[in-house]
Amino acid sequence: MNPLLLRSAVLASSLLFCSPVPAQTVSSTIAARAAGGRPSLNDPKSEKKIAALLEKMTLEEKVGQLVQYSAGQATGPGTGRTDYDSMIRKGEVGALFNITTARQANEYQRIAVEQSRLHIPLLFGLDVIHGFRTEFPIPLGLASSWDPRLVEQAARVAAREASASGIRWAFSPMVDIARDARWGRMAEGSGEDPYLGSAMASAYVRGYQGTRLDAADSIAACPKHFVGYGAAEGGRDYNSVELSEHTLRQFYLPPFQAAIQEGAPTLMSAFNSLNAVPASANPFTLNQILRKEWGFQGIVDSDWTSIVELIAHGIANDGATAAQKAFLAGVDMDMASSLYHDHLAELVRSRAVPEASVDEAVRRVLRVKIALGLFEHPFTDEAKEASAMLQPESLALARTAAERSLVLLKNAAPLGGAPILPLSTQTRTIALVGPLADDQNNMLGSWAAKGRAEDAVTLRTSLTEKLGSDRVRYAKGTEIIGGSDDQIAEAVRAAEQSDVVILALGEDAPGMTGEAASRAHLGLPGRQQQLLEKIVATGKPAVLLLFSGRPLTLPWAFENVPAVLAAWFPGVGAGPALVRTLFGDVNPSGKLVVSWPRAVGQEPLYYDALSTGRPAGNIDLTRPPKSGDDKYVSRYIDEPNTPQFPFGYGLSYSNYRYGQPRISKGQLSARTLNEQLRAGGRAPGAAVEVSAEITNTGTRAGEETVQLYVRLQGTSVALPVRALSGFQGVTLASGETKKVTFRVGPDAFAFWNDQNKFAVEPARATIWVSADSTSGSGVTLEITK
Ligand code: BGC
Repeated sequence: MNPLLLRSAVLASSLLFCSPVPAQTVSSTIAARAAGGRPSLNDPKSEKKIAALLEKMTLEEKVGQLVQYSAGQATGPGTGRTDYDSMIRKGEVGALFNITTARQANEYQRIAVEQSRLHIPLLFGLDVIHGFRTEFPIPLGLASSWDPRLVEQAARVAAREASASGIRWAFSPMVDIARDARWGRMAEGSGEDPYLGSAMASAYVRGYQGTRLDAADSIAACPKHFVGYGAAEGGRDYNSVELSEHTLRQFYLPPFQAAIQEGAPTLMSAFNSLNAVPASANPFTLNQILRKEWGFQGIVDSDWTSIVELIAHGIANDGATAAQKAFLAGVDMDMASSLYHDHLAELVRSRAVPEASVDEAVRRVLRVKIALGLFEHPFTDEAKEASAMLQPESLALARTAAERSLVLLKNAAPLGGAPILPLSTQTRTIALVGPLADDQNNMLGSWAAKGRAEDAVTLRTSLTEKLGSDRVRYAKGTEIIGGSDDQIAEAVRAAEQSDVVILALGEDAPGMTGEAASRAHLGLPGRQQQLLEKIVATGKPAVLLLFSGRPLTLPWAFENVPAVLAAWFPGVGAGPALVRTLFGDVNPSGKLVVSWPRAVGQEPLYYDALSTGRPAGNIDLTRPPKSGDDKYVSRYIDEPNTPQFPFGYGLSYSNYRYGQPRISKGQLSARTLNEQLRAGGRAPGAAVEVSAEITNTGTRAGEETVQLYVRLQGTSVALPVRALSGFQGVTLASGETKKVTFRVGPDAFAFWNDQNKFAVEPARATIWVSADSTSGSGVTLEITK
């Protein structure tokens, strides 16, 4: 159901558990994690304290706990309020965000704790998305490592830094499933797959929250955006979403549930409407699924002004109705709309909202504040703030994360010899061309929190350090958008005078990726394609590094450039990570977490699609149709169905041979599997073991991410042609063979059926152990009654 992966344990034992997680309450998870009887979400002592506080609170003070404003740099439409000091003094504010220094946080906190009647501390939040000061690769890049342990460590660093600046709440992880590269926010998440997305969601939560939430360096996670936000129609941000309940439960909800089960005490409701009901006023998803089914006891925070936006959605004609609808649907805290502040007390007085519900929402907020230890330790030590940032081990981890995020897409031999990468250190001169070769700001990616451009090391800096300035000919070639013929001509001259060309092309991170950055065209912006073609025309061996927050449709490049590496936006360690990879000090191991389209018209494009009733029989869908082919199949007449590169794909400087998978049993019974599922538990034991031998046939040691996929046929609903159900990293010396074993749990055979129940049905299962979502040969297994 929601497999929680502990990659470290997996690597140690070389076994992978696909374990279902029983419906358990958030509070019990947090309680289990909070050692020594310290405050937790369901701690009886906290409940007493909360009850005592509630007794004393006026209605206005209760509402105050449910109100949140941006007190720092704005990231969207705001309320225009600035009178925070006096509001805090009156107990009218529960949380603030967009504050980034301990001094600012302490100043506001002093007013709350020392000057308000009940001394309730404020909670400070921020978009800590892929680091705070030490910027890691964007989440799409981090996920491309397929290494939850690494993601957890990165989130731990972010928590240490953010908490040193007074921030105890990260609006992260973004766990939205993203199947459409037009959507700019694909950059902020872990890609298209619910299994991998769940593993990453849990990893972020573990990293942010550490072993105990009330530790000074722990911050509360806030999985977002609940729910369906990534399925915006046409990939256009904020657009409406239609998802059947089956699709919602099978694909979009699992990463949220994983984060909640890992102990995330808060969650953010989304901007979009879902099946015509806006997500920030959706009782089905918030009250029914999140609270009733999953037992969530924490805070539901609205997204930025998503409550006032209910008016624009058309489900409220005034602010009071918008506040009422959001609140009754289950949104506890109003981010930046100010509608709870303006209307909630009056709604209670007029009996449009029960006071008991307000009390319950206040309880949730206070529970989280208590669990974070804010009542005992509301202030942040300003003297320790600076030294927490950019620690040497944090920077080292950022570089490692950058290395592991890179995905080698193509590595051909242009002159018929060895593949162009890795480059030889003997290469005399290198032309370094492109607007992203020396752009510190862009290396940080979007949502860079407190990251500073000057912290990032660019490719140009690292390459020059490695080879000396006389061997690196740098020419920008063009701007990301704009540029001139002269710039292109200069770059062509640099290429002609060099032995190899490295091109650093792509998107502008702040402007073209992240929020409100949907694109209808997914090619290289500006004149970069023209630059690329002119450089390749020089005949010099070329390596293309793509910096982007999504896959880009570049069929010409994939045809004509010998080597292409997806670099995403790698963070502060960009330069060294890229240079070490280019010269072979690092063997690339990243794999795609999104299907890479050939053409925008293929979007939404994802590997775990259903088969249609018009599959192609034995027609080859990897090429456009030929005369004589059956016309009436599900395909494009002008483009193959297949992606440019499939989900799970990524090359390395080694080659890996996959042996035929072997399975420990040929038959399982649905009844037994369902019993195992119901018994629950985190490690219910394997239903079956599947193993395969993997051999490194290359000349270098490398790490390969081995993937396990399952297909079920003969079931009550149509299910994906393949669904990821396990993965593990295996390190192989040159020539080495290892047997990789997956212990596949009952959840791998369970799904949301035609009764909207999560269960196993009799079926034929095919299981692959493969290098990506399309390769390998499968073994079959019969699931009987
Ligand atoms: C985004 C959220 C973010 C919030 C606060 C919104 O515009 O959708 O992801 O957490 O702003 O900055």
